[in-house]
Amino acid sequence: MARDLSLLFFAFAFCISSLEATQKNRPAAVWSEEVGITVDEEATARPVAGIEHTLRKLEAGEEAPSVQVYFRHPAEKGKENTFHCYAESFHPPKINITLLKNGIPMENVQQSDLSFKKDWTFERLVYAKVIPDGKAEFACKVEHITLPQPMIYKLDQEY
Ligand SMILES: *[C@@H]1O[C@H](CO)[C@@H](O)[C@H](O)[C@H]1NC(C)=O
Repeated sequence: MARDLSLLFFAFAFCISSLEATQKNRPAAVWSEEVGITVDEEATARPVAGIEHTLRKLEAGEEAPSVQVYFRHPAEKGKENTFHCYAESFHPPKINITLLKNGIPMENVQQSDLSFKKDWTFERLVYAKVIPDGKAEFACKVEHITLPQPMIYKLDQEY
């Protein structure tokens, strides 16, 4: 009986230690996906500060957008294209995205619905048809509660 119990104990201890080992070796990204918390690279590098950072974000519910501007197709002078401004990873879902051509808001702009990502943040694509002339400057203005002032993202692409 005592022998059975100690065998059971060793089996149990073995399970626990292999479970711990597995968890230690798991990447933070996998862990965060399961519990639904975003852990950024900085947070992974500095665990304590990272946890504080994550808690603060959860409390405030705020996350600044990350923004990319690009042409849909390789840009060619005189050839119709689509100018995209893609904002992602932001919260709350109130955002103003304005496409600018030479600093002036563009017309016939379309946008995707706000979509919800796995990590509770939002994304949106705003786009407009353009015919690059080789001179015009395309940019995207983004307003969000996390930004002290509107941010302008210029299309940094030769065409
Ligand atoms: C978006 O624009 C409207 C109208 O200018 C403004 O009232 C609102 O505060 C802006 N929203 C954000 C998130 O900046």
